[in-house]
Amino acid sequence: KNVLFAASECTPFIKTGGLADVIGSLPQELNKSRKAHVKVILPLYDEMPSHWQAQMELTATINVPVGWRNQEASLYTLEHNGVEYFFVSNDYYFTRKGVYGYYDDGERFVFFSRAVIEALPYLGFTPDIIHAHDWQTGLVPAFAKIIQPLEDLRTVFTIHNIKYQGMMPHQMFDELFNLSIEHFGGLEWNGMLNCMKSGIFHADKITTVSPSYAEEIKDPFYGEGLHDLLNERATDLSGIINGIDTNDYHPLKDPYIFSNYRHSRGKKKENKEYLQEQLHLPVDGEKPFYTIISRLVEQKGFHLVQRILDEFLQEDVQVAVLGTGDGEFEEYFYHAQERHPEKLAVRLTFDEKLARQMYAASDFFIMPSQFEPCGLSQLIALQYKAVPIVRETGGLRDTVEPFNEITGEGNGFRFANYNAHELLDALQNSLAIYHNPIQWIQLLKNVNKSQYSWKDSGAAYTELYEAFENANIYS
Ligand code: GLC
Repeated sequence: KNVLFAASECTPFIKTGGLADVIGSLPQELNKSRKAHVKVILPLYDEMPSHWQAQMELTATINVPVGWRNQEASLYTLEHNGVEYFFVSNDYYFTRKGVYGYYDDGERFVFFSRAVIEALPYLGFTPDIIHAHDWQTGLVPAFAKIIQPLEDLRTVFTIHNIKYQGMMPHQMFDELFNLSIEHFGGLEWNGMLNCMKSGIFHADKITTVSPSYAEEIKDPFYGEGLHDLLNERATDLSGIINGIDTNDYHPLKDPYIFSNYRHSRGKKKENKEYLQEQLHLPVDGEKPFYTIISRLVEQKGFHLVQRILDEFLQEDVQVAVLGTGDGEFEEYFYHAQERHPEKLAVRLTFDEKLARQMYAASDFFIMPSQFEPCGLSQLIALQYKAVPIVRETGGLRDTVEPFNEITGEGNGFRFANYNAHELLDALQNSLAIYHNPIQWIQLLKNVNKSQYSWKDSGAAYTELYEAFENANIYS
């Protein structure tokens, strides 16, 4: 099947979050397997590194209707790692600093979604399926269904995070869409235009990035208002867990880390000691070392961490935190570090090299998310043989099995409720296991066996694409 991925970010060109990692690695895997032929279409942001922009070639100039107006867009292309990428360029919408966060983000992605449809004749292949991702491309399934640019074109819509929905005043319908009023209902939710709703409403199949999250979002607590619609569409909704590029995230090959290793604890200790030195912590390879690498936002569970960190730091441990985000949390960690200079190291920045050195150095990785559609960091942590400590939600629940001291099964630690003391219990439990050599070695063996490459999940996507054939016979 020919599949066109439409998304708003993709490594190595532009990244603000996990979405970019998925769009940057899944198409490569699918093309390698030869079961699907995937191309990817993205906006061309000014922010993309110039060496990538220099490699792009202009293939077409297209007209994109936005309401009653026509916007011109240039379509560029380049090939990278076996995947052909297309970039939609428009000075007005995308020649700006950064990626998101503008008052007219809704309009910018109405434009982009419509441009995806207008670009179809210039891609050098005829897609059987457009696979759109998150709210920024939630209008693509709507346009595909309403405008019908190609016969038998099917759509898949993947929800990476239902919290962000791309809402606009309903008056924008006239201004931006130029569609007959009968189509208003599929785009509207609660008095607003809602791009996420549009994707869920119009796509032929809907997926999310883990089986547990697919269940959770049918519930009001996680559904962010869209649970009723998701229940209506439940037979077309499924969850496929994300993978990571295990070739890139590989402690044996990673050029950023101090001492490369496969399973060796001795080498891990060297990485720990190196990092302790870098972070100005007392150097001691035996000290249990915990890390947090995350955007510092509420979703990631920092209200829990705040409550119990002082208490946990009474133990003989070290904790390192890396990330940027909300002022509230940045300030908290800054001051916590002043209170515990020997035990806590905080770096309020984003730094890929330091992140990898931290994964390589850690014994434990803390991720107590309030909700987590999939989560990629716990998978990277497992790759680098750091034991994840997570809250039981979404993809965290699907990838981290609690260590059971009786059966010796499990690759991490979990707690159920969004409650600070349950997190503290899990942390203390992890520390007890660390100090019990027999249990600790058993736990590490289980961690060594945990693998989250794209192999199985890639196959799950091709199965989903293939299933459309049957649909065609009957429709
Ligand atoms: C979003 C989710 C995260 C997921 C990622 C990629 O960032 O918050 O859980 O792993 O998308 O699907």
